[in-house]
Amino acid sequence: MQRNELPEWKMLEQHAKTFESFSLRKELKGHKARQKNMQVESEGLFFSYARNVLNSDTLSLLLDLANACELEKWQHRLFSGAQINESEGRSVLHMACRDKHDVSFTVGKENISEFVKDSLKAMETFSTELRNHKLRGYTGKPFTDVVNIGIGGSDLGPKMVCHALRHLKDGPNVHFVSNIDPADISETLKNLNPETTFFLIASKTFTTQETMANAQAAKDWLLKKARLSDVGKHFAALSTNKDAVKEFGISKNFIFPFKDWVGGRFSLWSSIGLSICCAVGFDNFNELLKGAHTMDRHFQTAPHEKNIPILMALIGVWNRNFLSMNSLAVLPYSQNLEYLPPFLQQLDMESNGKSIDRNGNRVSYTTGPILFGQAGTNGQHAFYQHLHQGTETVPCDIIVLGKSPYAPEKQHKMLNANAYAQADAFSYGRNLEESNGDISKQVDGNKPVNLIQMEELSPFLLGQLIAAYEHKIFVQGIIWNLNSFDQPGVELGKILAKELLDSGNSDTYSKV
Ligand code: F6P
Repeated sequence: MQRNELPEWKMLEQHAKTFESFSLRKELKGHKARQKNMQVESEGLFFSYARNVLNSDTLSLLLDLANACELEKWQHRLFSGAQINESEGRSVLHMACRDKHDVSFTVGKENISEFVKDSLKAMETFSTELRNHKLRGYTGKPFTDVVNIGIGGSDLGPKMVCHALRHLKDGPNVHFVSNIDPADISETLKNLNPETTFFLIASKTFTTQETMANAQAAKDWLLKKARLSDVGKHFAALSTNKDAVKEFGISKNFIFPFKDWVGGRFSLWSSIGLSICCAVGFDNFNELLKGAHTMDRHFQTAPHEKNIPILMALIGVWNRNFLSMNSLAVLPYSQNLEYLPPFLQQLDMESNGKSIDRNGNRVSYTTGPILFGQAGTNGQHAFYQHLHQGTETVPCDIIVLGKSPYAPEKQHKMLNANAYAQADAFSYGRNLEESNGDISKQVDGNKPVNLIQMEELSPFLLGQLIAAYEHKIFVQGIIWNLNSFDQPGVELGKILAKELLDSGNSDTYSKV
């Protein structure tokens, strides 16, 4: 049965018709109770959904839909290591990487918690020795720069976290190279010294064309100055493919493995997070893990109506399927979170950008939204005009930090004033009267907004935020009956590029 044939789905379709004259302006103004009732906290992370086009009936109908889709059963299957990534025959257990206390994670009959502990220990030792200069390059100099070479999940997650926590950086400079365009590696290496540069080759499969080409370019760059026997001192591999890693010439001590139950886009919690440990230290990485684990526990134990990822997911389903909105804008009011939108773009669109359900049927309803975004206030001067007065209604996640580690404090206040002003503009708009009768100045308002407030940009709260989005996307996959953990569409491009290269006709650039 298709999801939209469920009676619970049909009820929501009927219910949506009652929202034609719904006004957020009326609902919000002077109704403090709505704001209070529609806010949930998880240890310093506040999720407020009062500025959505919905009411308490909507929520209970959405919760009924979640029940009809057996959400609880799927949550249990996820955490108990069932092979819910059916097409690849894999469990989905990145949560095990961030749970140092629970020894109950198993894959088949194997307890994987020992493996997690050993991996974390190895990451701690390596990053500490690199940071305190015990590890040195081929001429005996300490490492000043670390270059992470990876793409997709092997790049976006660690890059986003390193940038988000850059106020805590007290280790080497960490750079990220991902694109096969030689510009990326060339521009990164041109200011670096081979004697003091360490490379992390981050690739789950260790076969990804972009990463392998860039890793080879990095090796060639080093070998212009150093000997082949020096390579082992300057390269580490973060991968599940030990054989391919050895072939590349990476020393046994510098292989940081992870397992296939960690999906690429969920891999920052595994050894793919090594660049984070180098930049901000293992203790901060540990706090990040703790935060994510806190959100895992919240997701598992909080009642559905007070459960942040479940609420985020259901509101997203409401906007997408019942109010016919196609996209989601993620708007962090934090320059350090500027890479959150591209990270979430992969997390969401690679997971739920699908039209074939778990039973092999083409779905007859819409699935994952088009996700985009930019740090506020920059986005305000780019695409917000479309958000306020365009012909599409775009729901927004506005993320606000209580305090900033940066001076001047006055500027942080100005930043937050902009965030809340935009939230008001989205909700209330400006009516014809307020526009002095000039219809071109009228702003309709009534745009759905989730307000996500964090006391500060600490590793702990960042960990919670990322895990909340991960679980949100999982829940939406359950509602839409999708396998959120494979990416068969991406594979097609890889195959075609390889065929084109092998055929010798790859350089098809022509001026005509
Ligand atoms: O973009 C497709 C993808 O398969 C992602 O899921 C993954 O994060 C990325 O490629 C990189 O893969 P790997 O880590 O194996 O190099």
